Amino acid sequence: MENLEFNKIYNMDCIEGMKGISNNVIDLVITDPPFAIDFKAKRNNYHRTASRVIEGYKEIPRAEYFDFTIKWMKEVCRVLKDSGSMYVFSGWNNLKDILTAIDELGFITVNHIIWKYQFGVVTKRKFVTSHYHCLYVCKNNKKRKFFPYSRYGKEDNDEDGGSLHYKDKEDVWIIKREYWTGDQKTPTKLPAELIEKILMYSSEEGDVVLDPFLGSGQVAIVSKMMKRRFIGFEIVKEYYEFAKQRLENDMYRISEGSCPQQ
Ligand SMILES: C[S@@+](CC[C@H](N)C(=O)[O-])C[C@H]1O[C@@H](n2cnc3c(N)ncnc32)[C@H](O)[C@@H]1O
Repeated sequence: MENLEFNKIYNMDCIEGMKGISNNVIDLVITDPPFAIDFKAKRNNYHRTASRVIEGYKEIPRAEYFDFTIKWMKEVCRVLKDSGSMYVFSGWNNLKDILTAIDELGFITVNHIIWKYQFGVVTKRKFVTSHYHCLYVCKNNKKRKFFPYSRYGKEDNDEDGGSLHYKDKEDVWIIKREYWTGDQKTPTKLPAELIEKILMYSSEEGDVVLDPFLGSGQVAIVSKMMKRRFIGFEIVKEYYEFAKQRLENDMYRISEGSCPQQ
């Protein structure tokens, strides 16, 4: 396969697609792979009108999840620079497969971050899940880039005198999900604030950011907004088209019926 270009996204299977990326050229991977929980795109969730949710969503059968995880992560390991990092999001259901794959492929775990969001699905006979796991890993812990003062300086305090720099660097991140009422959307998306935070701590302008599982394209779009280069893959045509439209027109949100070309 020919070398793929940066600042483009591709409508293909990421395991095949990543074969078109040379060794050691990616600075940062931010990704949210499919969950293998038989997720249905059209489910009528809280704050969500199903008709505006774009259908499709490619799930992975539970029994195949570990092999699938090993395959895509192996390609990430090959294309990632020694100075690079990967942030992988996972629910708790299949977290053990993600953790085992990380170890088997020789990645070094730097942090195990918890993303706490608002409004989990209310339950009667168990606690409400309101967090995701985010595994921050690298290939070479000495060469890994990290910019500790990119968001808050040593002297920045909140109104009670607490260090904002310290708080921001704790491994529990409380960040709200985005509800795009009235706009087109895919069923799951990472909030821009979360992606921005990772980009600021683990990349610089001009760096290349890869997301093998683009969905709505959030990682590519926020990377572009923050002057990083990007590349990514999405297997579902409708999601790819949605992400491409957002990128090409520099539109963060697209309201239903709007025509961004005009
Ligand atoms: C959890 S979603 C990603 C959401 C994304 N982070 C966002 O903010 O919109 C996972 C995506 O991976 C896609 N997908 C599943 N298998 C794939 C594969 N083999 N290659 C590329 N994309 C795939 C699914 O269609 C889905 O859109």
